[in-house]
Amino acid sequence: MSDRKLTAHVKSAGCAAKLSPSILDVVLAGVPRMRNDSVLVGFDTSDDAGVYRISADCALVQTVDFFPPMVDDPYTFGAIAAANALSDVYAMGGRPITALSILAYPGKGDLDDLEKILAGGADKIHECGCVILGGHSINDDEIKFGYAVTGTVHPERYWTNTGARPGDALIFTKRIGTGVVATALKRGMAAQEHINAAIQSMVTLNRAAAEALASLDVHSCTDVTGFGLMGHSREMAMGSNVTIEIEQGAIRWLPGAIDYALAGAISTGLNNNRDFASSCVQMKTDIAPEIESLLYDPQTSGGLLVSLPENDAKTLMREFPAAYRIGRVLERQGKPIHIS
Ligand code: CO
Ligand code: CO
Ligand code: CO
Repeated sequence: MSDRKLTAHVKSAGCAAKLSPSILDVVLAGVPRMRNDSVLVGFDTSDDAGVYRISADCALVQTVDFFPPMVDDPYTFGAIAAANALSDVYAMGGRPITALSILAYPGKGDLDDLEKILAGGADKIHECGCVILGGHSINDDEIKFGYAVTGTVHPERYWTNTGARPGDALIFTKRIGTGVVATALKRGMAAQEHINAAIQSMVTLNRAAAEALASLDVHSCTDVTGFGLMGHSREMAMGSNVTIEIEQGAIRWLPGAIDYALAGAISTGLNNNRDFASSCVQMKTDIAPEIESLLYDPQTSGGLLVSLPENDAKTLMREFPAAYRIGRVLERQGKPIHIS
């Protein structure tokens, strides 16, 4: 670990630094659109990445993600930023091929740290066979880093967050709680073993999960990132016109996450997510306040949320043991999300 604390000077960490979803909703509605038949997925459906057909058997999957540090070790921060940026390509069923880096760094900042951030990112990008073509940097008091990633997918075989069907099982592929652990870290109250577990989760690519899903009948898929489990479930439920029922007892939390939520390690991003999405959530059971908070916790480099037939879900859990069932898809009844 570096003795300089990367997280000490950032206002909010990782995906918790996203603009509030309620602000984005208002502003994006006023942005001019251009119709183009090659756009298979644009920004109308709040999906993970855009999809653009370039030939009968190839479409581009394009996404960009960057944020301030949520950990203090520069190499690890670079690796997390890369895993997080690649994730939106995997969530669409694509294969990443090229990346461009985006960097904001203090002009008088430490150059060893910068080199390590870039090395951590490059190693992670290369891990999946993707290449870095270049990038852009600006002088900024607050460090921010990430990538624009391009992938490819067959124009008839990409996954969106709008295809969930009643009767489907709902699967998730990582533990939840990176936001509260990062907030606890920033406040100096996180145990090293809990930080390590969160880091291990954040640097893990969604590649293996996406590969395990490739031969299955995926109806809908998204990665759970800045808007939290509720925000991304809401997008899937509303986009698919279904109700998503999540069993709170089935969710696997990162070690320490519940304790830190109980101790009040709640980010502004979490509160923004709750303000935005809670009117779409119906509680069908008594739920502890700290668990309720964690449902809205912004995830950095979170797992894949997948809607698929029960039998395919069983196959997935057998072949990819990190995947677990968190609920099911119902016909729309009342609110888009039920917590049971
Ligand atoms: Co996403
Ligand atoms: Co994203
Ligand atoms: Co099917």
